[in-house]
Formats: sequence, C-alpha cells, structure tokens
Amino acid sequence: MFENILGDRQIKTAPDDLAVWGKDWTNGFEVAPSVVVFPEDNAQVVDIVDYAIANELRLVPSGGRTGLSGGAVAGNGEVVVSFDRMNRILEFNAEDRLVTCQAGVVTQTLQEFASDQGLFYPVDFASAGSSQIGGNVATNAGGIKVIRYGLTRDWIAGLRVVDGRGELLNCNAGLVKNATGYDFRHLFIGSEGTLGLVCEVDVRLAPAPEPQLVMVLGVPRVADLLDVLKTFGARLTLSAFEFFSDLALEKVRAHRMLPMPLEDSQPFYALLEFDGSALEAGMGAFESCVEAGWVTDGVVSQSEAQAQALWQLREGISESIAPYTPYKNDLSVCIREVPDFLADVDKFVNESYPDFEVCWYGHIGDGNLHLNILRPEAMSVEDFMAKGHAMSPRIFELVKARQGSISAEHGVGLLKRDFLEYSKSAAEIELMQGLKALFDPHQIMNPGKLLP
Ligand code: MLT
Ligand code: ZN
Repeated sequence: MFENILGDRQIKTAPDDLAVWGKDWTNGFEVAPSVVVFPEDNAQVVDIVDYAIANELRLVPSGGRTGLSGGAVAGNGEVVVSFDRMNRILEFNAEDRLVTCQAGVVTQTLQEFASDQGLFYPVDFASAGSSQIGGNVATNAGGIKVIRYGLTRDWIAGLRVVDGRGELLNCNAGLVKNATGYDFRHLFIGSEGTLGLVCEVDVRLAPAPEPQLVMVLGVPRVADLLDVLKTFGARLTLSAFEFFSDLALEKVRAHRMLPMPLEDSQPFYALLEFDGSALEAGMGAFESCVEAGWVTDGVVSQSEAQAQALWQLREGISESIAPYTPYKNDLSVCIREVPDFLADVDKFVNESYPDFEVCWYGHIGDGNLHLNILRPEAMSVEDFMAKGHAMSPRIFELVKARQGSISAEHGVGLLKRDFLEYSKSAAEIELMQGLKALFDPHQIMNPGKLLP
C-alpha cells in the first residue's frame, strides 16, 4: 500500500484520525475515509496520484478543514490527502513581492510572514488561523476585505498542481504578464479539488496599508445600508463594509460577553473599515447619513484594541450560532439587488416557517449575504436538516430570479452540488464535466463534489 511511497509518520488509519481528517466544519455527512496520507513534497503528491490511478483509489484533498460545504468530506472509502506536512514557506522575492508557499501553509502564517517583510496579504476571514492557503485557492476564498482587495484569485501569481493524470503542472510561475492562451491557474482556483491537488502557491503581496479605523453604525432599514455604502464610498476608500442583524448581534454578544456597541439597538448594523487618514472624510460621511435618517448612531475605534473589539461583533457571529446547527447559506446578488432580495427571502421564511429565527450577516459591500436559519431548541438536528433541504429549492429560485449565486464564497462541495443548476446553465455544467474529464480522466479527484 502507501508504505512503499511514504514513511510511517505519513500514514494514518486509526478510526479517531479518520474521523478528524475525513471531514470539515460541516455536519450531517457520512465520514468514512479508508486512510489519511500526508505528503511532504510535490514528488510525493505525484506518487500518491499515480498509486491512486493504478489502484483505482479516489482522493479527497484536505487543508485546514474549515470548509462549510462538505468539500473536504470523505464519505466513501476515499484516501484523504492532507497537506498538514507541506506547511513551509519556500521562498520570498522582494522585487516581485512574491512568496512561494506549500499548500499547507496556514493563512494567518502567510499574513504574518507578509507583515514581517513590511508587506500585506489582504485575504482575511475569521478562520484564517486554521485554514490553509491550498484550501483558500481551491475555494477562491473571499472574506472581509474583498471590497478593497478582491478574492484569493487576485493574489495568486502561480500554482504547482498535480492533475488527475499524475502530471505536475507549473501554471504561471509568478509572471505578471503572460499572454500564451488558457491560464490553467485560474481554472484550478475555485475548482474545489475536482481537477487536481494544489501543491505550491506563488502569492503576490500588497504594500502594507496604513493603520485602519473601524466604525459601527446603527441602521434602521436594509435599503439604508446601501445609501450608507454609497455615501462613504464617495468620500473614502472602504477596506470593509459588513453588516449584521440585531439577532446576530444578540447571539455574538451573549457568546463572547461583549458590550453593546451603541446605546440603543437597531434592526441592522454596518461595520466599516477605512484608512486612519480618512477620519475626517469618514466623520463627514457619518454626519450626512445621520442627517438623511439612514443612520441613528455610531462609534469609531479610538485604538487598535477597540478596532479589534468591534471586529469581534462581526467575526464572532459564525462561531456563536454554531451550537444552533444553523441551516447555512452563502448567497450573492448584485449589490443593487440586496435589499429586495433579502426582503424576498425573509418573506418566504417568515410565511413558510414562522417559528424559525433568521440570522442575517455578511459582506454586504460585495452583495454577499450569509443567511443562517437557527434550529429551534426543541427540534432534532435531523428534522431540522430535512426542513432546510426542503427549503433550499425555494430559496435558490429566489437567487436564480436575480441571477445570483447559490455560493458566493463557501463553495459548492457536497452541500450544494445538487443545486448547481440554480447558478449554472446546463450548457455550462456540460462544459464543466468535459473539463473534469480532461484533467481527471480516471475520476479520482474529489469525486462527488461540485458537479452533479
Ligand atoms: C463569515 O463571513 O463569517 C464566514 O463566511 C463564515 C460564515 O458564514 O459562517
Ligand atoms: Zn463570509
């Protein structure tokens, strides 16, 4: 078996280990891998893929296992390929502002490395302390700074990937310009491990930003959030524009014992981040919003510690509602459509499931809404999940009607695979399947994920 190509420390088969490495943060899926392997370099990844082809084994890539769509769940005797032992930063070049990482480098380690060089890796989210750069690439991770800095895709200058034929592809080795046809790098980004295993990543770093200010505003109506976004956006460069509902605030405050950010509660809150030098412009925008009645009250951070404390109100929400095993959704529409779309979904849930609590938060500045419906305490997880599944087509119809996405940033994985048609046409899905067959002719790469 794998003993011929890997050392003992690189193979795990104990039931406890299979249970840990065989899943991500999702619940409710069968977890049943046959073995977990831990390659240490690109050559070993090639050997693993060759071995899998020869022995008709299927592979599930595993990074920090923070995924929320079941993309890293191995439920059917697959081999889990963990990148935990490929966690080294290999090279840094200051002229190109390029850092080459193995796929298992933790996102926060990369952020800290960038900061040590006086530079910045701007992709950030609450799970950055556990997630790995290879997984970020596989899902094209977004997060809280997309409004200013874009997605993972925007910072990837090169990839080494082993495809489903066992070929190690070197896709754009850090070049800024490269007009030689199909850029496979971008095909692998967001492909959820269905085309190949990402082994190494060249990341372009940004210049370090100036210190940031954080503002939290009370906003009575969703539509007002967009007016606030426009008003601030016209006067300064936003690094983040997030929102959360009163219910979300209640949950995160109770979970982390945080004080109220403002004197009175409001139906919604906006959290904004921008450069410290834009304070005056920010205060001007705030006053305009108050005068217009879009904002009732606000607070701006007076120190880095207070900025971080305000961020907790937003970043801690996901963890605070996890005990409710929520029915999670990660939806996007064009920014202009957000208020009407949110109203559509609220109406549907309130009418069809009046007992369910709806917890809204997300990256409203990107049109990305996290819809989390909380399980009533008395309902079993199983019953609640079945209700969620029944709800999905109705919610995804509302997404489709606005040409939105059923997964803005968490990925399709297992969770949304059977609903892909709500965001991709039949012709597109056929092309996706064709591409999969080209890169993965033996159908060994993360089988059953993404594609129906
Ligand atoms: C977030 O924005 O907090 C993350 O995407 C996680 C989540 O949606 O629960
Ligand atoms: Zn998010």
